[in-house]
Amino acid sequence: MERKKTDIHCHILPGIDDGARNVEVSVDLIRQQRNDGVENIVFTPHFCSDRITVEEFTEHRAAALDKLCAVPEFKDMDINVKLGAEVYYTVDIPLLDLEKLCFEKTNYILIELPTQARPHGMKRTFANVVNSGFTPIIAHVERYSYMLSDPSLLYDMIELGCLAQINAEAVLKKTKLTPMINYFIRHGLVHTMCTDCHSPHRRPANLRDGLKELERMLGENYSELFMSNAEKIFNGRPVDIGYIKKPRKILSLWL
Ligand SMILES: [Fe+2]
Repeated sequence: MERKKTDIHCHILPGIDDGARNVEVSVDLIRQQRNDGVENIVFTPHFCSDRITVEEFTEHRAAALDKLCAVPEFKDMDINVKLGAEVYYTVDIPLLDLEKLCFEKTNYILIELPTQARPHGMKRTFANVVNSGFTPIIAHVERYSYMLSDPSLLYDMIELGCLAQINAEAVLKKTKLTPMINYFIRHGLVHTMCTDCHSPHRRPANLRDGLKELERMLGENYSELFMSNAEKIFNGRPVDIGYIKKPRKILSLWL
């Protein structure tokens, strides 16, 4: 029997960000998820504190969920959903009302970093979030040039108490970054895989393909671990990060 899957990062809620533009697209994406064996989904629309207050965001998010819940096909889809957010990093994150941005009834919060320049005050800011009782999940760690060129930065964040996820796309699309993404996973620096889906064709829900490719690359243990961690996160249970290996650089090679 196919393993139950959980996706904790996606842009399925209609009309709230650059994801599904209406309920029809939302339903198409959820259908893709169901066909892939996904049973639990956290809806994580983009939140950026420079653009909107937490209160306005939560109102928009509730309205988008209401729209989706009113669609008969959605009611018949037999899927467990929770609200969350993909919070864009600023040094002021610890000052926000983080409980409203966490995955519902959990202390997990998905945080996205800038892709090119290493953000100012990153370690101190994440340490403050952790010390306030939250567990940050760093979104799509395969995207950050400064972590790809220095994996010890990701190691430091995990050691602080953060978790990290990759998108399915990170293993499906072969690029010159593939070896470093493997390196992150083999060093225990990645804890789950998500779809980050936005639209059925351009950025689809592709968890089954992503996990299959992960199994082909590194073995079944990782896909089992990633889905078991995602389910724990969805249910607000702790994730044991297990053994993490500190990246070491010898000459110009990361070992
Ligand atoms: Fe996203």
